[in-house]
Amino acid sequence: MSNLCTRILLTLLVVPCIPAALAQTTLSEPTVLVDIDHRDALSLNGDWHYIVDPYFGGLYSFHREIKKDGYFMDADPASAKAGPIEYNFAKSPILKVPGDFNTQHDSLFYYEGPLWYERKFDFTPKAASRVFFHIGAANYRAKLWVNGQHICDHEGGFTPFDCEVTQVVKPGQNSVVINVDNTRIADGVPTLNTDWWNYGGLTRDVSILSVPEAFVDDYELHLDRATRTKIEGYVHVEHATSGTKVHLTIPELKVAVDATTDAAGRAAIALTPQNLELWSPETPKLYKVTIASGSDTLTDDMGFRTIETRGTQILLNGKPVFLRGMSVHAEAPYRTGRANTEQDVTTLITWAQELGCNFLRLAHYPHDQRMTRAADRMGVLIWSEIPTYWALHFDDPAVLAKAQQQLRENIRRDRDKASVILWSVANETPNTPARTTFLSTLAANAHELDPTRLVTAALLVRAEGHTESGDSHVKPGEPNVKIVDDPLGKALDVIGANEYIGWYEKTPEDAANTVWKIAYDKPLIMSEFGGDARFGLHGSEHERWTEEYQSNIYRNQIVMLNKIPQLRGMSPWILMDFRSPVRVLPGVQDNFNRKGLISPEGQKKQAFFILQKAYKDKTLGKAE
Ligand code: GCU
Repeated sequence: MSNLCTRILLTLLVVPCIPAALAQTTLSEPTVLVDIDHRDALSLNGDWHYIVDPYFGGLYSFHREIKKDGYFMDADPASAKAGPIEYNFAKSPILKVPGDFNTQHDSLFYYEGPLWYERKFDFTPKAASRVFFHIGAANYRAKLWVNGQHICDHEGGFTPFDCEVTQVVKPGQNSVVINVDNTRIADGVPTLNTDWWNYGGLTRDVSILSVPEAFVDDYELHLDRATRTKIEGYVHVEHATSGTKVHLTIPELKVAVDATTDAAGRAAIALTPQNLELWSPETPKLYKVTIASGSDTLTDDMGFRTIETRGTQILLNGKPVFLRGMSVHAEAPYRTGRANTEQDVTTLITWAQELGCNFLRLAHYPHDQRMTRAADRMGVLIWSEIPTYWALHFDDPAVLAKAQQQLRENIRRDRDKASVILWSVANETPNTPARTTFLSTLAANAHELDPTRLVTAALLVRAEGHTESGDSHVKPGEPNVKIVDDPLGKALDVIGANEYIGWYEKTPEDAANTVWKIAYDKPLIMSEFGGDARFGLHGSEHERWTEEYQSNIYRNQIVMLNKIPQLRGMSPWILMDFRSPVRVLPGVQDNFNRKGLISPEGQKKQAFFILQKAYKDKTLGKAE
């Protein structure tokens, strides 16, 4: 133990003394600067050196203490004085950022563990400014160092975070080292078990940006539901003194408003534009909104609409709407891996619109911000979801805190996007008291963070006489009755329900003869159904894994769905096949979940055209 600790122990009562080597610098608390993609940032996308470190030897000593001279020091081996330096980023291989590491090198395809990224960057600090490091997403746990200083840590693989580096960046060349560890953990969000590939690494944009000392870090603007004529909300100016001026303009509407911040830095906004064109899938109208305060200014592209429920109806801009949708994973068309480019998201949305969709369920986690920006531009309504998926540790307050953090980060990033209408707090979770308490809390958090949108979840359903979890399916010979009465439904505005009649239970034809009992007088979205088919595999409509069998499922599902009076939307599983380590049937799945209507190579299966006809003829579903 260091002599410093000894002295402390002699003079004070026993105080837990952390040996100097373990003492952490005070870390920057990650935050989320909204509208980062409209700010002038120095992109750090491109080539980064990397070191695979399954034993985390770059951080921990042989007795598992945090090293003072770990890889994060980004040292030059030639400068070694006391003992060898056994790493050298400059001579290490390259990874492209953004991008999951699994699909960049065969040796990393199945890798799950710590992986170090490093690059140098030149920076010229601006006077009287603050500097933030932006990471669009790092799956799953990230640690960030700049010039050997430990700056921040973040857990959560699908939401952005920004860490302040003002005191650490210097003029000229700087070093940044980021460790991303995609090891799945039992107390994670998600937990150990998922049905998607655990793509790890810096999967989204990385950049560094300067902002004035007092800057706009958050805002919220929405159309009032009562009259749909007023735009209300707030602008928050970080580090502003009370009474700081905020100026907001929407030039195309010829409106401008001046507001002043309160003691918390928040300025209330209210304006009543004339001739406002409401945002909708048919007319995805976006307006330039400029917000200025002091020397800070930013311009966002925003649409204005209302979303609410009335009984079992969903109202968009006061009118009943039926959500003709699909579920979609953030799997990149053609190349596979995490989707994170304009081309990826445009392809996925174009396919969905070809199908006749006005709605997409972004499963099971927040997608790249490009996806929700594109949905705003192209006119697609969005179900946005955090990965509170399957059997989380619902009795662990630390897991709730992680889920609440990801919910906050997701809402803060995307609440300036008119396309996002639903915040989902779960997918297929077991019906236990701990789970219902956990998720009801999360639903209340979502309502509090954003009272302008609807809260939902994809619930498990049960056969009459069965419970949802475990043996929930209708058995041969039993009546085809499905019940939606998960108690979590009480906390939701819109009920999502997943079912696989014809795939995981019964036959495709049984779907057409299934009766549904819904315990809630709320809108219902059938948030999953479908079955696997390998593109190009043909046979009878009763031969599993063929395109004909998948078509048979869709034909019978459509008959069933049209008999559910309060059905207000659907997001069948799924737009495109996606990679999963639990789908291993050789020659058919080969590590892909094949429930897509489109193959990863962009080939449309027969069922695509069956659903397309039902969507385009608008013979499926009723808005009221
Ligand atoms: C589940 C789950 C999906 C999964 C799908 C399937 O309902 O929500 O993540 O991929 O069913 O079994 O294919």
